[in-house]
Amino acid sequence: MTSLTDRKNAAISRGVGMTTQIYAERAENAEIWDRDGNRYIDFAAGIAVVNTGHRHPRVMQAVRDQLDRFTHTCHQVVPYENYVTLAERLNRAVPGDWPKKTAFFTTGAEAVENAVKIARHYKARPGIIAFSGAFHGRTFLGMSLTGKVQPYKAGFGPMMNDIWHLPFPNLLHGITQEDALDALDRLFRSDIDPARVAAIIIEPVQGEGGFYEAPPGFLQRLREICDQYSMLLIADEVQTGFARTGRLFAMEHHGVAADLTTMAKGLGGGLPISAVTGRADVMDSPAPGGLGGTYAGNPLAVAAALAVLDVIADEDLCARATRLGQRLKQRLASVVQDVPEIVDIRGPGFMNAMEFNVAGSDRPSPDMANRVREEALKRNLILLTCGVHGNVIRFLAPLTIPDAIFDEALDILETSIRAARA
Ligand SMILES: Cc1ncc(COP(=O)(O)O)c(C=O)c1O
Repeated sequence: MTSLTDRKNAAISRGVGMTTQIYAERAENAEIWDRDGNRYIDFAAGIAVVNTGHRHPRVMQAVRDQLDRFTHTCHQVVPYENYVTLAERLNRAVPGDWPKKTAFFTTGAEAVENAVKIARHYKARPGIIAFSGAFHGRTFLGMSLTGKVQPYKAGFGPMMNDIWHLPFPNLLHGITQEDALDALDRLFRSDIDPARVAAIIIEPVQGEGGFYEAPPGFLQRLREICDQYSMLLIADEVQTGFARTGRLFAMEHHGVAADLTTMAKGLGGGLPISAVTGRADVMDSPAPGGLGGTYAGNPLAVAAALAVLDVIADEDLCARATRLGQRLKQRLASVVQDVPEIVDIRGPGFMNAMEFNVAGSDRPSPDMANRVREEALKRNLILLTCGVHGNVIRFLAPLTIPDAIFDEALDILETSIRAARA
């Protein structure tokens, strides 16, 4: 009989990469069961999506209730109240003490696309500044903004023009905040007049790029530079959002409000929805019909998102993210002295990562990261790697993970790290 892997290889484009060959049968909170009944602990959460766990009962109930009413009318044709309610809630929740408005989309890349469209329209300027190591999605604009060539950009060019990349400050890799700001200064002198720049887009913690957090004060400096040159600041909170970093939004750690904030992933608790929230005057720049999409703000996903926001508040998931991150870091600290390949353990809240070099060298070790991931998978713990060199393991379990399962996962993780050295 043909295996499912063979069928997959025959039927699906290889461009759609897969980290595991586990075919999900069902999932509950932080656990996934495959077709053969094997049980896995999920430290990927569908790439930072089910922060509230797989099938949170309140999210499921909200979706069921909505299923019984209607599933799709297209808000641009026949609108519905929940879309408005969710927008009102995001307008209140996103940092910035000015009037805000929101528009919904379906994916993170679409939110980024639309934030840039809105910024360019409002400023009537073409330039966008992004960062090396950034990840903003796989659409043409998202890919052009992304600062990682393999596998996201190679062979897909030409990229969109008027996009400029700065080094992301990263002390571990010898790039200071001053280096990044000097590069911006050089960019303005040698490549693009700041008067032609519409916006700077930044992930407060780089996700796919390696879980590097913007250093203290950096976002504040960008805010000042944006104000100085009348550019907009766009915070891409697609991966950092919705309690993952110990705050609803990572920008809150920096005391900075962006003009436009993009969200997706954790917002829908497993249903596809994304959003751009920002200054009301900026958001209102495009003419009616300039923004939207057939499925944008789908009723089922909107219902799920409203429940997700309730769950985050009622279960105090921001505080839980902080506690989980502390426990993970404590546990890893006890392993670190025996594992010279580990060069860093980092990340705010429970947006944590562990970086590997070849022992005793400065050379990144994607091999070690992959071996840890594979050893963990053998023991039924699902881990993800990230980083421009692929030498980082990121930890993204649901924030609702029960303590006993979290402890079990930490034991597996420690065993796997030790096994990866053997
Ligand atoms: C920061 C950031 N922006 C944008 C995206 C793109 O989101 P999507 O895959 O939903 O298009 C991602 C996805 O990982 C992301 O992490």
